[in-house]
Amino acid sequence: MSQGFFLSFEGADGSGKSTQARRLAAYLRGKGRQVVLTREPGGSTGAEEIRRLLVEGDPGRWSAKTEILLFTAARRDHLERTILPALARGEIVISDRFADSTRVYQGAARAELRQTVEALHALMIGTEPDLTLVIDIDAKTGLARGLARNSGEDRFEELGAGFQQKLRTGYRALLTDFPERCIGIDGNASEETVAQRIRDALQGHLP
Ligand code: TMP
Repeated sequence: MSQGFFLSFEGADGSGKSTQARRLAAYLRGKGRQVVLTREPGGSTGAEEIRRLLVEGDPGRWSAKTEILLFTAARRDHLERTILPALARGEIVISDRFADSTRVYQGAARAELRQTVEALHALMIGTEPDLTLVIDIDAKTGLARGLARNSGEDRFEELGAGFQQKLRTGYRALLTDFPERCIGIDGNASEETVAQRIRDALQGHLP
């Protein structure tokens, strides 16, 4: 049993989760907590290399099944080298995305491969966050925000508005699939208001 606390942020592209993850990390550090802020795909040297293969280039570059393998390979390295050591040190790990992203993106939105995702997850990862905050945002707003960033990492955003709507539906289903660890946060508000909603939702959860 780890003594730290593993918190993940989830949501469609442009939901504001990365900003909120950063804000929460700063807030908790201000309270004297040891926090590791990390992300997926990425979060370790090897996983960041795999990230570039996944988020850049043509939308049809990989099939959904190949993507599942690449995301899982990146996740395994991230888990071994970043997440588990931090939890063993008793720290709070905040990850901007984790396995739920594969459940929703590859398992529900990009393809219907949820069984494959679950089987590979059980075999190779086998770890869930202690708590997951799912930020819900209007699909059009999310897509506009994501593309406006012009980050060069638009492979998934380029799949379009219909895809963003499927993501939203997939994330809502996650709340019913894992009610014991998933909390929905309404992200259709100012950054400050959403940050306050997140702090309220965390009350009583952090050790
Ligand atoms: P990011 O923009 O939140 O850093 O994530 C990069 C993209 O990768 C984003 O469009 C979501 C996608 N993604 C998946 O499709 N499956 C996954 O398992 C993860 C972690 C991300």
